[in-house]
Amino acid sequence: MKKLVVLSGAGISAESGIRTFRESGGLWEEHDVLDVATPMAWAKDPEMVLRFYNERRKQLLECEPNNGHTGLAALEKYFDVQIITQNVDDLHERAGSSKVLHLHGELKMARSTADPMMRYEVDGWELKMGEVCEKGSQLRPDIVWFGEAVPAMEEAMHLASTADIFVVVGTSLNVYPAAGLIEYAPAKASLWLIDPNDVEIPINRHVEVIKEKAGKGLDILTRKLL
Ligand code: OAD
Repeated sequence: MKKLVVLSGAGISAESGIRTFRESGGLWEEHDVLDVATPMAWAKDPEMVLRFYNERRKQLLECEPNNGHTGLAALEKYFDVQIITQNVDDLHERAGSSKVLHLHGELKMARSTADPMMRYEVDGWELKMGEVCEKGSQLRPDIVWFGEAVPAMEEAMHLASTADIFVVVGTSLNVYPAAGLIEYAPAKASLWLIDPNDVEIPINRHVEVIKEKAGKGLDILTRKLL
């Protein structure tokens, strides 16, 4: 089977009711990134940070995968599909995709502030102050914040370099290092981008653009690939 590598972002979950970050009405319009998604924010006001991610987690419990997620899961019949997602939701997994690498962490997981390897599934939607790991340290959301390293990046670069087909869907390609992954696709790979809006592509190669929302865009892509 050909290897189809996908880089997904917030836009693929938009039709499930999850807000994107940088569009009008996006999350970063209402919240200052520096207040909720940085190590400094955690040091200054951990309760506010927990509240922000608790809200996201609570909303996620009410959301279902959409045609974009299920469209990608269905492609596993024809391709060896590897998803690399910037999303912290679990909608790719719930739609049935079997290989999902989370670059920016996972909402449903918490981790120890003393040892990043100590990870725990959050029970329900709420992570509270006072919830600690076995070593007695406070748990924090298992999210990669701005200013932190992206531990899954090396694996992601390797995966991108094995692509026969590389598909970017639902991301504004604003955030590095994730946005740079397309550069690792081999020269022979075909490159695709699905987004209803214009996205500046940081690479000087031909990219086939499908200017549609994720659900419809993946339908079109599937027809073109098969
Ligand atoms: P953005 O909010 O920057 O971009 C969302 C993209 O989705 C835009 O290009 C939209 O045009 C597109 N979009 C909107 N609706 C769509 C739909 N129905 N179908 C397909 N595409 C649609 O979100 P990301 O690029 O994912 O990181 O943001 C990257 C990172 O920045 C996030 O992982 C997050 C954020 O800060 C952290 O919090 C660490």
